[in-house]
Amino acid sequence: MFISDNLCDLLHVAFLHNSARKNSSSIGNTLMENGRLDVGQRGDSVIANWTWTDVPTPPTWRRLGNLGDRADGWILSTFVPPSFLINPIGFAEAGTGGIDSPLPQGRGKFSFTNYQCITPETERSTHFFKLVAHEWPADLIPHGLEMIRNVNAEDIWAMELQQQALDRDPAGQMRPIPTDEGVIRMRRLMDRLLKEEAARAG
Ligand SMILES: [Fe+2]
Repeated sequence: MFISDNLCDLLHVAFLHNSARKNSSSIGNTLMENGRLDVGQRGDSVIANWTWTDVPTPPTWRRLGNLGDRADGWILSTFVPPSFLINPIGFAEAGTGGIDSPLPQGRGKFSFTNYQCITPETERSTHFFKLVAHEWPADLIPHGLEMIRNVNAEDIWAMELQQQALDRDPAGQMRPIPTDEGVIRMRRLMDRLLKEEAARAG
């Protein structure tokens, strides 16, 4: 569930993957707090889309996309139960159209889409499959993959700490903040589907 939480709340990029943190993947910066969140549901899918307009370009995007000082960004999330997530993510030169910017990859834009599938292995471990769709030129591929590996390591670090906190205090309550709306909807949806499944099983 922590992986689904993580991927339904992509504002964490502004904090966890922040360039101000030592050794960070630097794909975010604190100014990304001031983005726009659009949350919705389409059937049993939960959508939580973050977009940013004219923010200082986070360092890693700047380097990989050959971007200037200001950029428009998008980090989108569609959760399809029980545990599939589609996450387009990228930054493009400010004012060039965001996700629709016609600028080439590595020349004013850097973006990709993660298709992710989580399936539990045991009570306390999980498989996590991630497919990265991109249109990067060949010379950017190793750098893009390195960025994704660094981001994954930061997410795993945070999720292990969450698990340790839950183990110490199993009755501990999560305290949602307004930007958690995507996570809350996803968890509500999963509760409902589990209840419906239990009712069917009698
Ligand atoms: Fe992350």
